[in-house]
Amino acid sequence: MKGGNFAVEHYCQETTLNPKIDLLRNLKAEAQLGGGQARIDAQHAKGKLTARERLEVLLDPGSFNELDALARHRSTRFGLDKQRPLGDGVVTGFGTIDGRTVCVFSQDFTVFGGSLSEVHAEKICKVMDHAVRIGAPLIGLNDSGGARIQEGVASLGGYADIFLRNTMASGVVPQISVILGPCAGGAVYSPALTDFVFMTKGTSYMFVTGPEVVKTVTHEEVTFEELGGADTHSERSGVCHGAFDNEVACLLAVRKLVGFLPSSNRERTPVRPTDDPFNRENVALKRIVPENPNQPYDIKDVIRDVVDEGDFFEIHAQYATNIVVGFATLDGNPVGVVANQPASLAGVLDINSSIKGARFVRFCDAFNIPLVVFEDVPGFLPGTDQEWRGIIRHGAKLLYAFCEATVPKLTVITRKAYGGAYDVMNSKHIRGDYNVAWPTAEIAVMGAKGAVEILYRKELDKADDKTQRYDELTKQYNDQFASPYEAAERGFIDDVIEPQDTRRVLITALRTLRSKVDTNPWKKHGNIPL
Ligand code: HXC
Repeated sequence: MKGGNFAVEHYCQETTLNPKIDLLRNLKAEAQLGGGQARIDAQHAKGKLTARERLEVLLDPGSFNELDALARHRSTRFGLDKQRPLGDGVVTGFGTIDGRTVCVFSQDFTVFGGSLSEVHAEKICKVMDHAVRIGAPLIGLNDSGGARIQEGVASLGGYADIFLRNTMASGVVPQISVILGPCAGGAVYSPALTDFVFMTKGTSYMFVTGPEVVKTVTHEEVTFEELGGADTHSERSGVCHGAFDNEVACLLAVRKLVGFLPSSNRERTPVRPTDDPFNRENVALKRIVPENPNQPYDIKDVIRDVVDEGDFFEIHAQYATNIVVGFATLDGNPVGVVANQPASLAGVLDINSSIKGARFVRFCDAFNIPLVVFEDVPGFLPGTDQEWRGIIRHGAKLLYAFCEATVPKLTVITRKAYGGAYDVMNSKHIRGDYNVAWPTAEIAVMGAKGAVEILYRKELDKADDKTQRYDELTKQYNDQFASPYEAAERGFIDDVIEPQDTRRVLITALRTLRSKVDTNPWKKHGNIPL
């Protein structure tokens, strides 16, 4: 690692006609090397790319414009005055993804372990401010030992400056955090404040306190990977929205994600031209719902069959798999898809799926991305575990999110729409713009089994042939309620459609909804049940 009190002559060993240009070129060449070749080799040996190599994968070739490459820290303690590497451990700037501007920072682990100093934080804050001013997504590549220990409170202040900006930028520009190495202590709260967190398997981890502290405090023995690796956060905690096998796959996924998002809340969503006909029949959906209402099917088959070219970019794929969320395009225009998944826990709504769905709905609403809901939900998950952990409060998040959303909101009820979950899943009553059901839909307060047991308990107790009477009553209930027609009579759905028409019907509705205007009453902000 070079730096310190450099003399101009030091950088001008190759004298040319213009020593000032030489100085500049040499400084820039030095900045490119970060912590030096030995540390770069060590980074590669861990299976990790350098900060700059990552930006090469993330951004369009040759599009990167660096800011503050010549910044150095101002710290003098612990001998730091003799180690003042250019760039101070983070590469910042702007570039393009598919021709659209994004702002980036990429922490350089080869310089003081990517630790965050006052100047390192100032560089990140500058590029964040730039992103908000120009209305461009902010992408942060994190690989850092946390607060630069030698700088003490100045470093903590730097984190807080970033947290404030993350919060102010929330809902203004999309913010994406990519974790490609350590991210520990308070440092985790910057990614946590952003919209999407992607991680690499085996080389990244996030935790508030590491395994050593955990062992001291709780006497638990846990590895880095178990405590805060990509699998842990994508399957158990839900902190991570996508876990990838390697850095290249992860960074390419970020590029793909950006392709669905508007650059800011002031912009329209990007249009992706498609050759997929708007009126393509969904032939595969004719028989996708099984005869037996208790038999599962994969709602992702429905989503992929409906959206353009079958291209569905799932978010949070490993977490709360009873709800599916992600981006796709219809007619070339991005939509946010929210779908109950009958193939996981029968598609029931529980705490985790409510939180997952709510956060996604709010993101889409903040960035003007229309919502398309596929509904097959037997209700909320019963049980003491759910009740005691607050399914009431957490389920309310999803309800609140759909209620407050003013983007175009469409619902297709494929099968079950029972109980409170019917209301929650973007029903007409909470400003669903265009709600349709397939003929297989069952829209009712509850399923036949529960209803018959409650309504006819006394009669069943007295019946000579209890099973026969039970079957009769169940059939009677199903004939009357397990259909979309009662809801259609009341206008609670706008139409009952044949499954093969789903794509055409959704696109036609979305086209008309492009001019939709809807607002919420003025308020400082609402109070979503957190
Ligand atoms: C200064 C640091 C540093 C840090 C690493 N380095 N972390 N320098 N401040 N926080 C330096 C090391 O001294 C080393 O320098 C080089 O970076 C590479 O580190 P290694 O330890 O050799 O790498 P590795 O073995 O891969 O281990 C990585 C690590 C470890 C697990 C991240 O470095 C580590 O535990 N660092 C400390 C983490 C930490 O406790 N940070 C503070 C957390 S609290 P040389 O010159 O020897 O190569 C925090 C509060 C934030 O961040 C609060 C915000 C509100």
